[in-house]
Amino acid sequence: MSSSKSITLSIFLLIALSLAYANATTFTIQNNCSYTVWAAAIPGGGYRLDRGQTWTINVAAGTKGARIWARTGCNFDGGGRGRCETGDCKGQLQCQDYGTPPNTLVEYAQLNNLDFFDISLVDGFNVPVEFSPNSGGCTRKTRCTGDINGQCPKQLRASGGCNNPCTVFKTDQYCCYSGNCEPTNFSRFFKQMCPDAYYGYSNDDQTSTLTCPGGTNYKVVFCP
Ligand SMILES: *[C@@H]1O[C@H](CO)[C@@H](O)[C@H](O)[C@H]1NC(C)=O
Ligand SMILES: *[C@@H]1O[C@H](CO)[C@@H](O)[C@H](O)[C@H]1NC(C)=O
Repeated sequence: MSSSKSITLSIFLLIALSLAYANATTFTIQNNCSYTVWAAAIPGGGYRLDRGQTWTINVAAGTKGARIWARTGCNFDGGGRGRCETGDCKGQLQCQDYGTPPNTLVEYAQLNNLDFFDISLVDGFNVPVEFSPNSGGCTRKTRCTGDINGQCPKQLRASGGCNNPCTVFKTDQYCCYSGNCEPTNFSRFFKQMCPDAYYGYSNDDQTSTLTCPGGTNYKVVFCP
């Protein structure tokens, strides 16, 4: 499953041994798309964002495995139950589970008062996104804004998005279960569209995962 391809924390144990007091983190999530998205966050829940609207969430110090993503094509009833075309989390407006692919992911973890983050395409792509610090001195930002939906290879097309080939084919060649696999023409397509994103190969964490000091706050913009 895609959760096994989240940020590889083990790498960072080596570089994050300094002990310091830990800091909570604020994410300001903005919808700059021309359409409504239903933002989702684990931890955090979910919130409908019309064009130009923002949603702010706070996560506790030491949070690991956090994800923020956009859902599209949603309908919810007054009790917050319904369905989304992309990124759906078991039909809940307030997500308590990760979303159904395809969905572009922001991944975040805090370890020993260092923040690690990336934009990941392990669950495919639905909405362009940018993730950037908006407090403190850290200037590491990452974005994925290529026209992936428009140019999605036909085998990967899904309504509202473009699947990761692992989701479609479920083979080691595309999922890299063995941790040792070659790039494919599909992975080259995604890398060309979004060179900064994490795609799922064992070795690309080093280039796609960024760090900032704990205590930094961040902005997520859909359709930057
Ligand atoms: C990758 O190669 C396969 C098999 O040759 C082909 O069907 C597919 O369209 C190619 N995809 C891209 C993105 O070039
Ligand atoms: C929002 O999108 C417009 C284009 O539609 C772009 O010019 C602008 O820079 C974007 N704003 C942000 C905050 O990314």
